[in-house]
Amino acid sequence: MNQRSMLVTSALPYANGPIHLGHMLEHIQSDIFVRFERAMGHEVYYVCADDCHGTPVMIKAQSQGKTPEQLIEEVGVSHRADMQGFLINYDNYYRTHSPENQAFSTEIYKKLRERGFIFTKTISQLYDPVKEMFLPDRFVKGTCPRCGAKDQYGDNCEVCSATYDPTELKDPYSTVSGATPVLRESEHYFFDLPKFTDFLHSYVKDVLPKEMANKLEEWFAQGLKPWDLSRDAPYFGFPIPDADNKFFYVWLDAPIGYMASFKNFCDKKGVDFDAFWKEDSDKELYHFIGKDILYFHSLFWPATLKGSDHRLPTKIFVHGYVTVNGAKMSKSKGTFIKAATYLKHLKPECLRYYFASKMNNQAVDLDLALDDFIAKVNSDIVGKVVNLASRSAGFINKRFGGKLSSKVYNPELTAEFAAALPEIAKAYDERNYADAVRTIMSLADEANRFVDAEAPWTLAKDPANDEKLQAVCTQALNCFKALITYLSPILPEIAAHSAEFLNCELKFNAAGTPLLDHQINTFKPLFARIDPKDVEAMVEDSKQDLKEAQGAQKSDAKAAQPAAPSAAAEGAYVPLAPEITIDDFLKLDLRVAQVIKAEEVPEARKLLRLELDLGFEKRQVFAGIKKAYDPASLIGRKVIVAANLKARQMKFGLSQGMVMAAGEGGSDIFLLSVDDPAPLGSKVH
Ligand code: MSP
Ligand code: ZN
Repeated sequence: MNQRSMLVTSALPYANGPIHLGHMLEHIQSDIFVRFERAMGHEVYYVCADDCHGTPVMIKAQSQGKTPEQLIEEVGVSHRADMQGFLINYDNYYRTHSPENQAFSTEIYKKLRERGFIFTKTISQLYDPVKEMFLPDRFVKGTCPRCGAKDQYGDNCEVCSATYDPTELKDPYSTVSGATPVLRESEHYFFDLPKFTDFLHSYVKDVLPKEMANKLEEWFAQGLKPWDLSRDAPYFGFPIPDADNKFFYVWLDAPIGYMASFKNFCDKKGVDFDAFWKEDSDKELYHFIGKDILYFHSLFWPATLKGSDHRLPTKIFVHGYVTVNGAKMSKSKGTFIKAATYLKHLKPECLRYYFASKMNNQAVDLDLALDDFIAKVNSDIVGKVVNLASRSAGFINKRFGGKLSSKVYNPELTAEFAAALPEIAKAYDERNYADAVRTIMSLADEANRFVDAEAPWTLAKDPANDEKLQAVCTQALNCFKALITYLSPILPEIAAHSAEFLNCELKFNAAGTPLLDHQINTFKPLFARIDPKDVEAMVEDSKQDLKEAQGAQKSDAKAAQPAAPSAAAEGAYVPLAPEITIDDFLKLDLRVAQVIKAEEVPEARKLLRLELDLGFEKRQVFAGIKKAYDPASLIGRKVIVAANLKARQMKFGLSQGMVMAAGEGGSDIFLLSVDDPAPLGSKVH
């Protein structure tokens, strides 16, 4: 076999928040890949880090009365504990705020500058005169210039979904100090991305699956734009060399953090760093990322590497988003589940198994349906796999002194289990874990049918059957050994305990080779069923997490907390709008419409583009519900639309009406529905 050599990464989680189950999808996906490739005998290094820089970390640290260094240190400890809790087997989990990363970022920047890829340009931006800092869009709020809704973000209104420039907001204020921002000019450093257009256009076809590369065609059609990679002080980041009080934008040094984490590891372990990163390296480099950060990884990152004479990623593996019970993770529903909260109630391998059983190599969303989660884990891991061992082990231990038979009882079954290896291995290697699990579980069904047919518990009644009983139980245990070995990349802890019990090393490539005339150890329970109460408790706890976060926010309300938009607590009072007359009300023409098309607007953080059928006509509406709804889940759904609202020209197209929804905004938005028989176009009274 050809030994391959590879470096694998997961995206670097931001240091301004906890790890949640959305992150875990990615880390579990990459960890399974790494464990599998290692089991196949390849050399695999696997690194990650916290992404420490940027305004949110700086502001959060200030609001907690800490230095950013203190904050990232504390967050680092909890992130590492979460990763370990989920059995993610990193060689190194580092941080981007490190000497190695500063050295690489500086060196790469200087190389780009030497080559003429950096230029400066003066731009004007909102500035907080009290806090004396430039304000990123999300730190400016104000009154929507279109509908008059208060407290809307700098780029987009969550009430009427208008998009605008932060300078168009009425009564704008800085969420950091409350001051009214002023426009101020500043010189920024730009990376000349358009110069890399031809290179990138062909490169993305090598590095991404076809459908994904096709999606990027839109970006190329619009033309790539220079990338603003500087931020003015105060900013938590690395200073730009030969520039006064300018810092690298967090996304410049974040992916370089992959290199820096690996360098930190290589220096400790004596591994040859250059062999992996020099321009003509023959080692493989794989990045696992979510679909939201594709632009950075498929355009900026390769262009920076190319422009500074480094090797390029071999492939970029893009996954979709985790939804819970069919909807985006929501704080108020208790489905925004932190990794630590999950681990308080449930075993990591339950989630690893459930995610794996639904994971393929497409960037589609993955639903954690909690009832299905309980049912599947209990029926597959416990019912089909672990029970196989527990049912047979007792007889072997009690009746045969723990000794397995020296004969294979059913050679066809043994052969079938061994023959499944290539198919399972291919599925893992291609990251089609769902296929691997399906194949393994159909073998498990086979094994259970064998045990049911041979009925060892009946054989055990007559000592004359002893030889057969031993052979049948041996066969069942060898089936178990094959299954748990095939599952070992997904269930490493159960596999390790099984290896102890079977008293042998589990080798992936020899999964189907039976143990014969072999001494096993006493069986100890390998895994307990999920109690639905534990899942309920986890959801309750997650609601509690939200309440605590809100409490914390109130106690330091002055030191604004611009974290994710928070959900209104159940029953919280939001002041009523001034009274109106029936005539005022009747001006509003609400209609029933059906969503016939729904897609993300890639350039907008919150918008989905919807095509609505009102029966008598079709319309296009932009709605600020991207964080709350998966576009695919909306197709066919009936909604209520404000149909006589003046159409509005947005950056992305004409918006002809407004879709009605309740909720605070962000991921806490709830579309209004109507009972299904309501005809399209009918008026809402
Ligand atoms: N810091 C950047 C990545 C820098 S990589 C050089 C970042 N951090 S993040 O914490 O917001 O997200 C980290 C990874 O988790 C991303 O790949 C992102 O797609 C993924 N996920 C975050 N929420 C997710 C879900 N709800 N579901 C699945 N993956 C999600 O982006
Ligand atoms: Zn508005």
